Amino acid sequence: MKNTIIALTMACGLSTTVMASTTTQKPYTLDFNPQNYQLEQLEINGKPLKVRAYTNIVYVKNPVDIKYEVMNIYIPDAYFNQQEVNGFNAQNAPIFFPNEVGGYMPAQPATLVGRKMGGRGPTGQNKPIETANPPSTAAYALYQGYVVASAGARGRTSTTGKAPAAIVDLKAAIRYLKYNDKKMPGDANKIISNGTSAGGAMSALLGATGDSKDYLPYLKKLGAANTSDRIFAVSAYCPITNLDHADMAYEWQFNSIHDYKKINMSMLDYKVERKETAGVLSQAQILVSNDLKAQFPNYVNQLGLVSPQKQPLQLAQDGNGSFKDLIKQYLIKSAQTAIDQGQDLSQYTWIKREGQRVIDINYDDYLVYLQRMKTPPAFDALDLSSGENQEFGTEQIDKQHFTAYGFEHSTAKGTLADAHIVKMMNPMNYIGQKQVHTSAYWRIRHGAYDKDTSLAVPVILATKLQNTGAHVDFALPWGKPHSGDYDLDELFAWINQISR
Ligand code: DHB
Repeated sequence: MKNTIIALTMACGLSTTVMASTTTQKPYTLDFNPQNYQLEQLEINGKPLKVRAYTNIVYVKNPVDIKYEVMNIYIPDAYFNQQEVNGFNAQNAPIFFPNEVGGYMPAQPATLVGRKMGGRGPTGQNKPIETANPPSTAAYALYQGYVVASAGARGRTSTTGKAPAAIVDLKAAIRYLKYNDKKMPGDANKIISNGTSAGGAMSALLGATGDSKDYLPYLKKLGAANTSDRIFAVSAYCPITNLDHADMAYEWQFNSIHDYKKINMSMLDYKVERKETAGVLSQAQILVSNDLKAQFPNYVNQLGLVSPQKQPLQLAQDGNGSFKDLIKQYLIKSAQTAIDQGQDLSQYTWIKREGQRVIDINYDDYLVYLQRMKTPPAFDALDLSSGENQEFGTEQIDKQHFTAYGFEHSTAKGTLADAHIVKMMNPMNYIGQKQVHTSAYWRIRHGAYDKDTSLAVPVILATKLQNTGAHVDFALPWGKPHSGDYDLDELFAWINQISR
């Protein structure tokens, strides 16, 4: 898919079309109407594909915000004519469920056209995409024969979009798909969620928390379909997750790095913008970093994780131990894969090699190369200035703390978020729990050049899943910054393999 010429032509307008369903009065219907579509003509690499586009479907009976609680569903036209696409048919086609959540902001559903900015398109990387009309990940997925359903979700900037609104919305959309399974081509038992960053966190939460009762009161209030919300598989790129332990994980990793390049996120036309400010940690921030770093070994040790070789994963109070060794092993594997694929890593003298074989990585030098991006605490900011502080606000209070440390050291007299809501935002609390249907298949990617959260966060998630019997395809792709959807060929190969 790389280096190919892409053209995307649309038979009709796309995102401006509001279907009749969004203008009707509450309660909205949960019944999918197969007749209410527009025919779109896609063309990628000279290959045409006809698609039925069902856009702006309100997916709950009593929405709070119909700008976001809407779903776009795209179905290959072939599935209405008893034909196949890529060996799939109307009965067995998996449903690809990409979300566009970024920065814990509100998100509209994905369309067939990729974003020009923002790093959620197939080029990833948060750079402007030069092509006039780049096809989206959703468009590529249709060529694989998947039905695509993308739901919008509320987010932190609206009083009614605070945690757990985004995950509740996405669950409600899953329920809509299950409820309408018989009326729609595609197999709602084969839903594969995809997301990047905060969207990766949402994807992981969907996979971890299937049918958990914790979300029921919220789902009922919205009038979500009364059915299951478990999903088949999860694809998560650089999930910004495990937020209540991410501060200690960040300082465990970056404690020795005092220079930082902080990125302030803002929103422009629903596209997350990232602006860099350089600085050096103050003495007070170094003390906070030391405090947080010291908390991390206890957290890791009480998880009782074991490595793929069944060795206990632990950390001593100084932060060293088998858990850190496992992270190094993943980095060594990442460098080896890059070299095997022909990348030249010879400039990184801290990668120790014997010929073409990577035998070790100097972890401290790796951290110097990686650099620190966030100041401590990275997520629960003491002055309530982080996006996550806003995510854990309420209808009345815009920003709150969500860790004991943040609350106790608040410089803004911040209040503490409800512990049950903090629980509902962390997939770690649900994986392997009784009466919760955690997905069996996971693909997690976190770039080895990504410093938006500690490498420990995705490693803990992947390991917990492995330890509870899930199939986990996990890697730290070399040189990749905070981004997603950069390896769609591999992602789709994985989906094809698990769903046939
Ligand atoms: C995202 C990035 C962050 O660094 C963060 O703290 C939260 C969300 C994002 O890109 O979605």
